[in-house]
Amino acid sequence: MNKDLKIIATPDMRSARDRRKKPIELVYPEIEVSHALREFARGKTFYLRTYGCQANVRDSENLAGLLEYAGFTYTNILEKADVIFLNTCAIRENAEDKVFGEIGSLKALKVENPNLIIGLGGCMPQQEHVVTSVKTKYPQVDIVFGTHNIHKILDLMTTVIEEKTRVIDVESIQGSVIETPLVRRLDDKKAYVNIIYGCDKFCTYCIVPYTRGRERSRTKADIIAECQILIDAGYQEITLLGQNVNAYGKDRPAEGDFADLLREVAKLGIPRLRFVTSHPWDFTSQMIDVIASYPNIMKAIHLPVQSGSDEILRRMGRRYSREHYLKLVAEMRAKIPDIAITTDIIVGFPGETKEQFEETLTLVDAVHYDGAFTFIYSPRMGTPAAKMIDDVTAEEKHERYERLIQHTEASTTASSLKMVGGTYAVLVDGVSKRNKNRLSGYTENGKLVHFVGEPALVGQIVQVKIIDSKVYSLQGEYVRA
Ligand code: SAH
Ligand code: SF4
Ligand code: F3S
Repeated sequence: MNKDLKIIATPDMRSARDRRKKPIELVYPEIEVSHALREFARGKTFYLRTYGCQANVRDSENLAGLLEYAGFTYTNILEKADVIFLNTCAIRENAEDKVFGEIGSLKALKVENPNLIIGLGGCMPQQEHVVTSVKTKYPQVDIVFGTHNIHKILDLMTTVIEEKTRVIDVESIQGSVIETPLVRRLDDKKAYVNIIYGCDKFCTYCIVPYTRGRERSRTKADIIAECQILIDAGYQEITLLGQNVNAYGKDRPAEGDFADLLREVAKLGIPRLRFVTSHPWDFTSQMIDVIASYPNIMKAIHLPVQSGSDEILRRMGRRYSREHYLKLVAEMRAKIPDIAITTDIIVGFPGETKEQFEETLTLVDAVHYDGAFTFIYSPRMGTPAAKMIDDVTAEEKHERYERLIQHTEASTTASSLKMVGGTYAVLVDGVSKRNKNRLSGYTENGKLVHFVGEPALVGQIVQVKIIDSKVYSLQGEYVRA
């Protein structure tokens, strides 16, 4: 194992919080592969495991593109890999615990193969405490990098190979917009396209603004160019990505706003256009109008509410009220009658009273969500909520969580049940592992459907009649065109 440690940069929460508006750099990096790395990569494989949200999935596609450019080939067999990367998530404690467990188990592989290179990237290492732990307790990790320097990964690998050292390079900066052309897409029909990086919302419980930097938009020209390449390659679905897509263009006013961008991408003619995630605060009527006007914009909006109590929303720093949220939902439903609305909810925020929790339940019942992700609050070191007094016991939080799930599941089930008997367009994703004639895919409103059909239908949009519904999936019958 490499004993020496080269520290290029380490993260700190204070710099990560900095939002003094410096101009945003637009970077088109030139990627070079050193002779040493090219030699090392010859005949070697890499394994890449991704945790967390779609932003990380898309980052992993860049990472894989870079590794293939250097000469590595992808393997899905961890034990055989010569290079292992973990692209990590810091959103809740259990996400981090899983990764530390994984790093621990990689030690044995490193003993077997001392030339193995292990890299740890993504949101976890953007926190001081993670880098400190890795430095001292996990010598098997050779490269620690962050969310801002994925494009420099090949240089960091060269350092490890040439200088026989471990290297840490994680900066807490506002970040730039980095246009890396090298990408290895994981799917050949559905693709993610970043439109805005980072987050300026600073919800008091959330680590993302610290791990991902300031809100910064790509240029419309670069987004359109990426979408056009996908359309030309026969992609059926594009999902525009951002922690808050509705903030698109605020930092780059000449580009227009999210409504303008959505309209322009829709006009390119991709069969299905989606976007995540929407923040209720930035959602304008113009955006709703654009979604209503283009049939290829999917009628599905992920609109995290987090809580139904105004006092909790205020302490979360969400900057909207229950009333504002319900009005927004009402406007969406009025203008787009078949809209599917999904959400994220946190229970057990510090000091959440029984009454405040009940307000979340009544909100869930009032909105009739089509789906919901529910979480128990997890304190994140360095965030304001982690310092708030919390007198709610873990047991009480779990009980509330169970009750919340009963309500969200009732609402999801009701929304699925309404679809039974109808025929819907389904983009076929793949075949079941156990039976290749069992296919699955998603409807326009984001419901998972299983049905029997030939494997040749994978990648196509087909008509499926819904015959039965479970909480998290529908059963359908292929309707031959
Ligand atoms: N940018 C998106 C969400 C990113 S994180 C948004 O603002 O909607 C995804 C979800 O994780 C959040 O919506 C929230 O519900 C949950 N989450 C974030 N921080 C959390 C924490 N500290 N504990 C529990 N859940 C959290
Ligand atoms: Fe986190 Fe809030 Fe930003 Fe979403 S909007 S990423 S919850 S700080
Ligand atoms: Fe996790 Fe980072 Fe995404 S913390 S949810 S991977 S932005």
